[in-house]
Amino acid sequence: MVSPVIETVPIPLTAEQAEAMAQRQIKKHHVAIVLLHWFNATSWLLELATGAGLIVAPAYRFAPVWYLQMMEGMFGSRANMLRFHLAVGLTWITVFLVYAIFGFRNYLHTEVLQHEVALDHDDLSWLRVRTLHLLGRSDELLPPQGAYNAGQKLFALLVYVSIPVIMLTGLIMAFHWFGTAIVAWAMVIHFLAVGMVVSGLMIHVYMGAVFPEEKPAFYSMITGMVDELYAYRYHFKWWREVKAQELLWKKQLTEDEERQHGSAENADSGAAESAPGSRALQKPEE
Ligand code: HEM
Repeated sequence: MVSPVIETVPIPLTAEQAEAMAQRQIKKHHVAIVLLHWFNATSWLLELATGAGLIVAPAYRFAPVWYLQMMEGMFGSRANMLRFHLAVGLTWITVFLVYAIFGFRNYLHTEVLQHEVALDHDDLSWLRVRTLHLLGRSDELLPPQGAYNAGQKLFALLVYVSIPVIMLTGLIMAFHWFGTAIVAWAMVIHFLAVGMVVSGLMIHVYMGAVFPEEKPAFYSMITGMVDELYAYRYHFKWWREVKAQELLWKKQLTEDEERQHGSAENADSGAAESAPGSRALQKPEE
């Protein structure tokens, strides 16, 4: 839908418009983000599997005994499992550090975070309306959303706050920094922060991998692209931004082409006047 005027609110689409938009793809995630996301998901899977296997004290363990025995059997000993947990954790921290250093301006700058993760007025009413929908108490339309909906933003906020805590407490435990008392506190905080992320992760994975409406979002985490219809219906404010950007590029492109065309014409006429013998090619003056 490339019109010089971009709708300010979603309008009902005709079947042809919807079909055309479903065929058009727009870029949602940079390849670096896709790779980081799946690296992160794999690291979490390995860390959760081994982390759960490492808690054996009867007062704290939550994994069943058969799981603890199976994991110990797989690694040969608990010491090996701990080594593996540390190696994956340290690799995870190193990769995120590289991402933070090189991607800071693109992904972690305050402006970017405010735009993509901070909750605005529409997000707050989205959370209210969505909750009422789930309870079957309202059929009010959901307010338009940006690149991420309010539920995704809440999860992202939880992740952004918890990840540095998990990393720091992990390092304190791994290298016994700051003495025994701090290491003991680090254990508790590490466990709580992981628990908080896991509670959000259950919804995140369900929404991402199973929920039918969110299928395009799942594929976007593989291909980097979503179809325009999905963007229009579920992330209208982001769709508008993409369209506004497209219009701006098109305008700049046309202006550049006109400028080049103009200067080529000037150069041609200038060249024609100054070129040797050019007068001979001109129509004789009447
Ligand atoms: C099998 C596991 C996972 C699946 C299927 C999954 C799925 C997805 C999908 C589909 C998106 C894209 C959302 C969109 O563009 O609209 C996404 C984004 C994201 N994922 Fe995951 N993810 C998984 C694991 C994780 C883990 C382990 C974490 C972190 C602990 C995580 C953190 C994020 C964050 C921060 C985003 C960006 C914004 C958001 O949706 O919250 N994901 N994930």
